[in-house]
Amino acid sequence: MNTALIYATKTGHSKKIANAIAKELNVLAEDIKSEPKLDNVDLLFLIGGIYGSQSAPELLSYLEKLNNNMVKKVILLTSSASKVAKQSAVRTLLKEKGIEVEEDEFVCQGSFLFMGFRHPNKDDIQNAVTFAKRFSLS
Ligand SMILES: Cc1cc2nc3c(=O)[nH]c(=O)nc-3n(C[C@H](O)[C@H](O)[C@H](O)COP(=O)(O)O)c2cc1C
Repeated sequence: MNTALIYATKTGHSKKIANAIAKELNVLAEDIKSEPKLDNVDLLFLIGGIYGSQSAPELLSYLEKLNNNMVKKVILLTSSASKVAKQSAVRTLLKEKGIEVEEDEFVCQGSFLFMGFRHPNKDDIQNAVTFAKRFSLS
């Protein structure tokens, strides 16, 4: 199975989560800023934060260029201070492109001002790794 992992981050949390998962699954964690080329990917882990209830516009622009020959299935892991906000626009966009998106989305606590102070912590990161491992083994 061809597995890839990309992340979009403003304050570094998604990168931390991405690197921990990448290490465990033995894949490369790639920042969307470097416009990673995805080809024939069976399983794509996508980690991103939420800002003003939205995904970063640059992540959405990057995903606009994907199609279902490049990526078959996406697993979303989201980092948000509220632990409620998810990557809804990302999910909708990918589905519109005929790319399968796993229903189960992992939300990792991030922080913003005083909300979620000191998150993501070690346990949050470990929980994200455990979630991701479920799919890499199936
Ligand atoms: C400018 C800004 C706006 C944010 N807005 C929200 C928000 O609307 N809802 C939320 O749950 N978290 C919000 N957060 C918290 C981030 O989603 C959270 O810290 C996340 O872990 C950031 O990921 P990153 O470090 O990969 O950029 C915001 C953070 C920043 C910096």
